Amino acid sequence: MAKAWGGRFQQATDPRVEAFTESISFDARLYEVDIRGSQAHARMLASVRILTEEERDQICSVLDQIRSEIAAGQFRFTAELEDIHMHIESALIARIGDVGRKLHTGRSRNDQVSTDLKLYVRDAIDQLDGLLAEIQRAFVGRCEYDAGVVIPGYTHLQRAQPVLAAHYWLAYCEKFQRDRERLADCRKRVNISPLGAAALAGTSLPINREMTAQLLGFDSVAANSLDVSSDRDYLVEFVFCLSVISAHLSTWCEEWIIWFTTEFGFLKLPDAYTTGSSIMPQKRNPDVLELIRGRTARVMASVPQLLILIKSLPMAYNRDLQEDKLAMFTALDSLSACLELAPSVIAGAELNVKKIESRLEDGFLDATALMEYLIRKGVPMRTGHETVGQLVAKCDAAGCRLADLSLVELQAACSCISDDVYQILGARNAMKALCSYGSGGEASVSARLDEWRKRLG
Ligand code: ARG
Repeated sequence: MAKAWGGRFQQATDPRVEAFTESISFDARLYEVDIRGSQAHARMLASVRILTEEERDQICSVLDQIRSEIAAGQFRFTAELEDIHMHIESALIARIGDVGRKLHTGRSRNDQVSTDLKLYVRDAIDQLDGLLAEIQRAFVGRCEYDAGVVIPGYTHLQRAQPVLAAHYWLAYCEKFQRDRERLADCRKRVNISPLGAAALAGTSLPINREMTAQLLGFDSVAANSLDVSSDRDYLVEFVFCLSVISAHLSTWCEEWIIWFTTEFGFLKLPDAYTTGSSIMPQKRNPDVLELIRGRTARVMASVPQLLILIKSLPMAYNRDLQEDKLAMFTALDSLSACLELAPSVIAGAELNVKKIESRLEDGFLDATALMEYLIRKGVPMRTGHETVGQLVAKCDAAGCRLADLSLVELQAACSCISDDVYQILGARNAMKALCSYGSGGEASVSARLDEWRKRLG
């Protein structure tokens, strides 16, 4: 098969070189964006009279046919044609000859592949935004399901202060909201058109880059043709965004894996989302959660992979860049699979409320509330801290809770304590006392929940 670039070559390419340099095995999935880009390019070429209107229409309709054939699995791919761009162009030429040979006027595969990637990433960002909103909706759904449930909040994985369960769920909504915003911000830099930068220098032909940018829905046109061919910042940024999302997913999974242990016993997972052991008949393992946590490795690895790829590349295009797609697709596919599964796991789990409640008074979750009570009575914070610390030590030794202490015992520690102290002792009371903006108490959580409901529709 004749190569599109074969003019100056006398020898055929070694088949091992073809196999080594091909990218069709992983870039075929760019076919749809590649055709979108080519059709916009053809329309622009006609508008500047490089193509006639008939030629443009012929090219666009044959590209439509090629798109349908690829979508239907009726298109033959071969390593000889290197990549998706060559496959589509040579199919076009095979069908309409010289007219097809005009399509690549005023562009190069260098700006073409970047255009394809940007269109692909832009579509992916829009899809990811929807998937993240689904996860947020699942957590909001949990807030309604678990209304009024109080659970321990932890720092250092040690019992700290009690909060509403909904406060946990909404914490995840916040994290995934920042992820959506981060993607939206990345989208701004993705949405700048490389098309028409040609190989590296632009072109002497009268192309109209604004027009192709507009046809493809780009916000603006990249201003420096040399920069365009070597720019993969947007991919680094994109996979970084994916990595932060995977970190958030992994945190959620880790937490639920811990909650699912017999030691914690906070969580029940449906059989459909757990798997068994081949030797221990009693086992039910949280494999889905573990694998979402584990997939993070593939997603995060794409960040150093791309940074190492672009480090030290001279201007402008270098063939190394062909490897960018492998990193990006791996990250995107791994993360998308997790995001698609997550909402049903979130919605399908159940808090073991009885067990949580039966242990809620363990671990002095109300100690901070007692200290703040003392502060409200005029005791300096550090003094209150010390007083409550001593009371906790006393209870610990006696095997009782702060709320079990009599008023006389409490007053022995601090004379300002009166019997209204029992309104803040106990985990539920301590949760109810939380009233600052953004806290895990009732008013704050329900206000934020209303906002989330409105925002997520
Ligand atoms: N398959 C190539 C890639 O993915 C397309 C660009 C090739 N450009 C070139 N000058 N050989 O990067």
